[in-house]
Order: sequence, then structure tokens, then C-alpha cells
Amino acid sequence: MDFKEELKEYQNIVNNELEKYVRKEKCPEEVLNNSMEYSLMAGGKRLRPILIIATFKLFNENFEKVMPYAVAMEMVHNFSLIHDDLPGIDNDDFRHGKPTNHKKFNEATAILAGDGLLNNAFIIISEELKKDTTEDLENKIKVFNEFTIAIDRTIAGEYIDTEVEGKQISSELLEYIHKNKTGAFLKYCVRTGAILANAKQDEIDELTKYAENIGLAFQIKDDILSEAGDEKILGKPVGNDREHGKCTYVSKYGLDGAKEILNKITNEAVDIMNSYGEKGEFLKELAKYIANRNK
Ligand code: IPE
Ligand code: IPE
Ligand code: MG
Ligand code: MG
Repeated sequence: MDFKEELKEYQNIVNNELEKYVRKEKCPEEVLNNSMEYSLMAGGKRLRPILIIATFKLFNENFEKVMPYAVAMEMVHNFSLIHDDLPGIDNDDFRHGKPTNHKKFNEATAILAGDGLLNNAFIIISEELKKDTTEDLENKIKVFNEFTIAIDRTIAGEYIDTEVEGKQISSELLEYIHKNKTGAFLKYCVRTGAILANAKQDEIDELTKYAENIGLAFQIKDDILSEAGDEKILGKPVGNDREHGKCTYVSKYGLDGAKEILNKITNEAVDIMNSYGEKGEFLKELAKYIANRNK
């Protein structure tokens, strides 16, 4: 199967699983549930859950076990996007080619939909912990702890990103923002796949390096797409970083400079995956996809 087909297959697996968690029942908070569904099922790339599944599959084919973690991650990702688009943060009107949550519903609903998705993720993970009585429990608790820390880092990165808007910042602080606001989740996903598959410590360490590289690469590419992407394909605004005076890899290093850094760290990630041979093929191609994507 070629990479594109495999990616599509993974996306279908994740989408089908997410559907099972959507609340459809009639109830007084029905509109809140609809707004959570609106963002969750809007057509994201599902990259984070796919990273959990694909990393797990490096060691173990039975990936059903990580599906609750995949779902919880995608919920928290969408919480971060809904809040990121709010007037008080990026004030963006479009995502996934549709009005952002606060534009479709209203600001109060969007804030609470984000909170709801964040907490639904905790419900899912805590259910996993509650029902488990096997030797897996230790790894599951470890992963849960890393999940909460990754969310903490994402929020910290988002805070600094918002706080320094309109200012020039050092390259160290810019890297710190990117590694936190975006890198923390990608790192968590790869580590979670590896830890739940019982990978050895040196394997987890090596995969963590891969994850750190693709995490930073992912946000550098996001910066590049915000400058030079196609709004119709991207489904979210182009030029908004520049408009808001955001310090990004593009404003700091120029378009070519940003691309050069992106290629360097992507190649490092690819090299790490080469040591996994045939089994590492998908994650190797995924690193390239992150650098070459147009949405
Ligand atoms: C967008 O992430 C937010 C960033 C961290 C840059 P994605 O590009 O993965 O969002 P989806 O695919 O729309 O869910
Ligand atoms: C998004 O950062 C990071 C999080 C939501 C945590 P951006 O603001 O750069 O992402 P887009 O471009 O809106 O997706
Ligand atoms: Mg933002
Ligand atoms: Mg944004």
C-alpha cells in the first residue's frame, strides 16, 4: 500500500472511532454537544491519533488497545483549536473550510465546547484506568501523566504565543513556543504509542528524538503555510500570522530560511526511522508528509 492510501485508511479508522463517542441524544445541553461534534468531525487530518497508532504498530499489530488514547488526543487537539481561534487569542473566522466554532455558535458555547472536549478526553482515559487490572496499568498511568503534562505545555506555549504578539522575540523563545504549543502533543503521541507497546527505554528515547523533530517541523510548516499556503486547500486563513504581527519562523528567518530549517530537522527524523527498516516506512513517509503537506 502506498503512503497516501495508508494515511487515508488510518484517517478512516480514526473517524469511525470518533463517531462512536459523539453524543447524539436529546438533552438540554444538546447544542453544546452539537458544537463539540461540529469541531471534532470537521475534517482534521487526524495526525496525532495516527502517530499514536503507527508508533504502537512498530512493536505490536493489535492497535485496538490504543484507540481510546487516539480518540482522547484528537478531542484535546480540537479543544486547543477551538480556543486558539477565539477572539481573545487568534480571532480567526475559518477552520477546515467552515466558520470557526464561535462564529457558527457563539463565544460562550465555543469556550464550553473546548472545555467539554478537554474533559471528555479525561473521562475516556480514566475509564481505561478504571477497568484495567493487568500489568499494563503502570504504563497506562505513566501515559496519562504524560498526557496531562503535554496539555500543560501546550497551554504554556499558547500563552506565550499570545502574549508576545506584535513583538520581536529571540530565536530561543520562538523555538520554545513552537516546541510547547505544538511539539508537546506530537511528542506525547509517539511516546504513548511506544510506552503502551512496552518498547524498551532506548527505543522510547530514540523515538522521542524523532517526535521532537517532527513536532517542531510541524509548526514551522504551519508558519510557512500561513504565509504562502492556498487558503482554499488549507481551509483556514492565509496571511493571518503576518496581520497579527506574530513572530514565526517565516518572520524570523524568511521563507527560504524557514524551509531550510524544516528540511534539516525533517531529514534527521527520516534518518532515525531508517533504522526501523520496512516497519518504519510509514513514520518515515509521515515525517516527509509533514514537511511537504499543503494543508
Ligand atoms: C493545527 O494542527 C494546529 C497546529 C498545532 C499547527 P493540524 O494542522 O494538525 O490540525 P487539523 O489537521 O486541522 O486537525
Ligand atoms: C496552534 O497554533 C497551536 C494550538 C492550537 C495549540 P496556530 O495558531 O499557529 O495554529 P493555526 O494556524 O491557527 O492552526
Ligand atoms: Mg495561535
Ligand atoms: Mg491560530
